[in-house]
Amino acid sequence: MAKVDLNQKIPNNVNLADDRRLQRALEKWQPEFLHWWNDLGPVKSAENEVYLRTAVDVGADGWAHFDYVKMPEYRWGIFLADQEEGRQVNFGAHKGEAAWQEVPGEYRSELRRLIVTQGDTEPASVEQQRQLGRTCPSLYDLRSLYQVNVEEGRHLWAMVYLLHAYFGRDGREEAEEMLERHSGDPDKPRILEAFNEVTHDWLQFFMFTYFQDRDGKYQLQALAESGFDPLSRTCRFMLTEEAHHMFVGETGVGRVVKRTAELMREHDTDDVSKYGGINLDLIQKYMNFHFSICLDLFGQENSTNAGNYYSMGLKGRYLETKIKDDHVLDHDTYPVPEIDDDGNIRMHDHAALLAINERLRNDYAEDCQRGVDRWNKTLADHGIDYKLALPHEGFHRNIGIFAGVNVTPQGKIISAEEWKKQANLWLPNDDDHAFLQTLMVPVTEPGKFANWIAAPDRGIHGQSVDFEYVKFH
Ligand SMILES: [Fe+2]
Ligand SMILES: [Fe+2]
Repeated sequence: MAKVDLNQKIPNNVNLADDRRLQRALEKWQPEFLHWWNDLGPVKSAENEVYLRTAVDVGADGWAHFDYVKMPEYRWGIFLADQEEGRQVNFGAHKGEAAWQEVPGEYRSELRRLIVTQGDTEPASVEQQRQLGRTCPSLYDLRSLYQVNVEEGRHLWAMVYLLHAYFGRDGREEAEEMLERHSGDPDKPRILEAFNEVTHDWLQFFMFTYFQDRDGKYQLQALAESGFDPLSRTCRFMLTEEAHHMFVGETGVGRVVKRTAELMREHDTDDVSKYGGINLDLIQKYMNFHFSICLDLFGQENSTNAGNYYSMGLKGRYLETKIKDDHVLDHDTYPVPEIDDDGNIRMHDHAALLAINERLRNDYAEDCQRGVDRWNKTLADHGIDYKLALPHEGFHRNIGIFAGVNVTPQGKIISAEEWKKQANLWLPNDDDHAFLQTLMVPVTEPGKFANWIAAPDRGIHGQSVDFEYVKFH
């Protein structure tokens, strides 16, 4: 069942050959996808031979095969985690019913909305990152970028499969539109705001894979709990791929921090910019930016939509079945921040059902902290007395109760004037971006790394760090 037939036009483990109509529809979408990849995927990459992993199975051990691949020939396909015998809807009004193998008719439009919103982020990130290959800090990192890109392309396939297989004509139309909306397009932008920004430099890329891809992880975890079993199964397999994206982010930022620490020691200064490094203050600013825009991705603190998705059994909480409560949440409360009349931020108990987004955001923030702790350990190991920190949840927010409120990274509410004076210290400005650009010079000799980033501890899939991860032609 789990084995994937890579020789088929569309590799899959869903017995696509048995459903001729679906197969034909997806085979019609396939060239449109490739067209999109060639137009808006990584620039000047079509001829490169890249040491990539390709999914060949969905089992826990050995689901991936590594080899040189030209990306347009990557075997994008449809891989669902194995069906769990006797799986049930585990939360909401339908708790205890058998998990749905077909779309529940009364929730059709909500379910489609959830799938489209998730699916839209996948090609969006590829579009955002398409220029980065020009300035890769090493072949190792270029490979990481391309690996992330092809897998985000596959995640689009995952969502498009659901739309085609379960939503008929309007599903097919939604699949078309996935390739018609484009990141940053003024007329047809991507659905979520954070996915319309260009990723200009590699520090952004590492922050993106640390923070944005982790948002992806939490959304996928919540959808993996879905009572709609095909969605759950597809998300469970996507999560195995997502883990590597976050690894790229965590180790990427970690290597920048390490290199900065080395330069600080070597030159006995906090200002390593004149030695071609990235100052810790600037790394902190990038963190402030990415963390805050990612908190927005979780939506309003109190959300009737999120409550409805939950009650309908469509989208659960992080590790739903491990939580010890009734999984219906008619009477439970959850602490949500509010700005009181005296201008202070305090926690108040709200209906847990409406606070689903807030809870997922908190799970996410807690997870974000883990990597920050490891980066700080690197600093401490170098004897550097500086701590990177996630900003307060109210900092630089556009959605929810903090939208339009000026909150410092430490969580103090300030006036618009004060904000204007200090925002420069907290968020990357034009000069910062321009400085980063000066560091973005391509390094393409195997085993060599740009000056602003340390080499990784080890290579990919048992290869050495100086392995030729990308061959140019
Ligand atoms: Fe993804
Ligand atoms: Fe990802």
